[in-house]
Amino acid sequence: MNEKRAVVRAHANIALAKYWGKADIARNLPAVPSLSLTLENMRTTTEVWFSSELAADELVLGGKPQLGKPLARAAKLLSEVRALAGVDTFARVRSHNDFPTASGLASSASGFAALALAAVRALDLPVPVERVSALSRAASASAARSVFGGFVELGASAESAARVAPPEHWPLCMLVAVTSEVAKDTGSTDGMQHTASTSPYYPAWVADAPRLFTEVKAAVLAKDFARLAPAAEQSALAMHASMLAASPALIYFRPATLAVIEAVRAARRSGVAACFTIDAGPHVKVLVEPQHVAAMKRALSDVEGVLRVLESTPGPDAAQIAEFPE
Ligand code: PMV
Repeated sequence: MNEKRAVVRAHANIALAKYWGKADIARNLPAVPSLSLTLENMRTTTEVWFSSELAADELVLGGKPQLGKPLARAAKLLSEVRALAGVDTFARVRSHNDFPTASGLASSASGFAALALAAVRALDLPVPVERVSALSRAASASAARSVFGGFVELGASAESAARVAPPEHWPLCMLVAVTSEVAKDTGSTDGMQHTASTSPYYPAWVADAPRLFTEVKAAVLAKDFARLAPAAEQSALAMHASMLAASPALIYFRPATLAVIEAVRAARRSGVAACFTIDAGPHVKVLVEPQHVAAMKRALSDVEGVLRVLESTPGPDAAQIAEFPE
């Protein structure tokens, strides 16, 4: 029998125009358009091995065997790929993130993009990259964007993501001020449903998000930082405002989150081209022009509650690699 195995590396992405809320829950279609930057230094490596010796799908994340929800989500994606290929063999999946998992650091994005591409490659399925993006999106909408490198968009109700510009288009740097190592207690799917069903500000978020997306996209294409910064920050804060108005409130901010926002605003007043964005977690991602990286990094490291600062340039497409690193 052929060895039905593939190893893929996919990179996390951070949205500059945020996705929050679903147009179709069953199909996992986003309610609003989003635009992200894929990151070189935040990576998931995943091996998928299909074998007739297995009696069920297996998932090992960071060396730890997974059961329950994480395994069920992976198995669902694997079943969709199996259906496309017309096979019924189970798979063993090994996956490793080189950054903290499930704390708003986009691990589901790179994780499901890596899993979808590895499963498709392992079974030698001749499907276009858009199909891989759609498979990833069904598991986690932000994962649709991690299939592509550089600047990537996912339209409202879109099946798959599309590239806006390649990584070399604009050599910005993303600094991630890590404020916690613990997993968050409300995942994004539950958080979105809770916001949509209880927050009076959710309709306002959905109504205004396309305008912010258009503004972010135009600024990215024009490489206009002064235009990008206010739109990206408003997108993140409007998304969080909708969560803060949910009942009970969904608060991902910690004291250090606000302290980092203050540090970015202070840096900007002193002439540093930097802006922040925040996902469903307490960390703050700071986009900065290359000449200001060292100063911004020092300022972030000095903020009380910042545990460490990760640094990344724009990253590439998800791609197959030879071996799973042991
Ligand atoms: O793809 P999900 O379900 O993990 O949702 C991601 C949502 C945010 O990270 C908060 C925003 C985004 O566009 O990535």
